Amino acid sequence: MPGQRADVQEIKSRLSIVDIISRYVTLTPSGAGYKGKCPFHKDDTPSMTVSEEKGLWHCFGCGEGGDLIAFVMKIERLSFIDATRRLAEEAGVSFDVAEDGARDELREIMAEVANAFVLNLRSPAGKKARDYLLNRGYPEDCWMTYGLGYALPGWENVKRAFAKYGEATLLKLGLLVQGDKGVYDRFRDRTIFPILDVSGRPIAFGGRAFEGQPKYLNSSQTPLFDKGRVIYGLSWARERMSQTRIAVLVEGYTDVLSLHQADIRNAVGSMGTALTQGQAEMLKRFVDEVVIAYDQDAAGSAASLRGMQVLRNVGLNVRVARLPLGEDPDGFVRAHGSEAMQEIFESSLPFHEFFIESLKARHDLSTVRGKEQLLEDAREFYADIRSSALREVIERAIADLVDLSIESVRRELPRKRKPRHEEGESRPSAEHWGVEEHVLALVLRGEATWSAFEPYLSPSDFTGANRSIAEYLSKGSMELSELMGVLDEEGARRASFYALSPIRINVEGTIEDAKRWMGRLPAIEKRLQELDREIERSGQEEDWTRWDELQKAKSDLRKALIQAKDAKRKGIHEQQDNQENPEG
Ligand code: UTP
Ligand code: MN
Repeated sequence: MPGQRADVQEIKSRLSIVDIISRYVTLTPSGAGYKGKCPFHKDDTPSMTVSEEKGLWHCFGCGEGGDLIAFVMKIERLSFIDATRRLAEEAGVSFDVAEDGARDELREIMAEVANAFVLNLRSPAGKKARDYLLNRGYPEDCWMTYGLGYALPGWENVKRAFAKYGEATLLKLGLLVQGDKGVYDRFRDRTIFPILDVSGRPIAFGGRAFEGQPKYLNSSQTPLFDKGRVIYGLSWARERMSQTRIAVLVEGYTDVLSLHQADIRNAVGSMGTALTQGQAEMLKRFVDEVVIAYDQDAAGSAASLRGMQVLRNVGLNVRVARLPLGEDPDGFVRAHGSEAMQEIFESSLPFHEFFIESLKARHDLSTVRGKEQLLEDAREFYADIRSSALREVIERAIADLVDLSIESVRRELPRKRKPRHEEGESRPSAEHWGVEEHVLALVLRGEATWSAFEPYLSPSDFTGANRSIAEYLSKGSMELSELMGVLDEEGARRASFYALSPIRINVEGTIEDAKRWMGRLPAIEKRLQELDREIERSGQEEDWTRWDELQKAKSDLRKALIQAKDAKRKGIHEQQDNQENPEG
């Protein structure tokens, strides 16, 4: 007989995170929590911290972390639902029936909406999108195969047609957007590329504008669409991927479709260049090797190198295709055909060779300064490489490039900056912490309240995953368990890091930093825009003295903007100099 129905929060609150993690890891008391050897990487020192009070765990060695459910998902390789279900059983409550029922209903709504988009494409109003697709070389049978559709112009088509499901549900599915004066359709006058789960069910949409920005608009994070784990085209590619054990990873929706049309059926899309660990793990279920075929302009970018590193670190072999400059796979395969495309993939470079090549291309090796910059540039990626064999290959190649002995290169490329504390102990990498991170850590650790910073900053001052954490905190709520439920994987990893980090942070100093830097960026940007208008006006009035003054002000302000950005990133009072020993 199933017990009482419970939601995720309730389930977590009934269980001891320390008890459950203890089944897999020997935990010993340390400070206010527990420590153990992390099961998710080769950990010689106990780098994992578990806090019963906060209901969180975090490994300061590999950066994994989150709540109890995240731990069970990772260690047992379960989906969110299955992990929660298992924990519910343990807590003596029931969870699955209600939740699964609700998800099935959400899936059905998404399928209906996808179908409505398909019908729009074939309706008279869809002519524009039909012409667009035909012009780009996607014939009618292709629309069918990939479920392409069209979102009508106007603000309330989906809202009206699916009103019976209620606005709250449509909002939750990312189909509507909340505006000041009510809700309206997210997708308007766009060609629709449905995003399917592994089983081929629509869980989200990408919509391409005919002109205007953004070029692609995607569904928001929803209960069905966990952005960090979804790969575009997986359901179409999984069979060929499993056969060949190789995936071709491209950036865009159209790259995937064009490659599939050219019978390169192991192509999948990352939907942009920033690849997440969840996406890498998903690929790892099907293949051993990933050939990255990003737009040539994007391939050497920091985001994409990081993505390659993420793939390598889950144990995938990575190679990088070299497309002609300025081309993407969609354009290339159309212009040169399937065979030429295959040849490019076959002759793609091993990851480390690509890395060395991109270093070479970015720096002028005829000057000492260029060589120094190359070493500097190589540092971050080198530090993240876990294989010592690969590190050695890279050291050798770099030594050749900069004309130094391999020993000197090794000295120049420390694996991680030397820790200031006992040897062997692993440390959170707070080197790059700035004001944002200090604020979040203080609030999450309960050492300051959000209201202390509120006068000086708003969530929109925060960047990346920090913003969603800030948004939650700015509502005045501080329920860690609830917070973990609203964050994606990257957010959860960060939040657990901030909440459990042992670094000493000065509250007053951080308030000072927030005052000085956080609010300043938008203010400076706004003033720069005003200046532009004033400059234009003085030009029209031919008041050249004033024009000169304004230009000078503009150039000063630009400098200030760069400084403020830098200071905001670094934090001004060098907090990380007084690290506290977590044992103490
Ligand atoms: P690209 O800008 O390379 O687009 O972005 P594309 O796929 O070549 O587009 P077409 O061929 O001009 O239509 C690659 C991918 O990055 C994501 C989309 O998933 C896109 O397919 N992206 C890009 C967005 O999500 N939003 C954007 O505004 C742009
Ligand atoms: Mn592209």
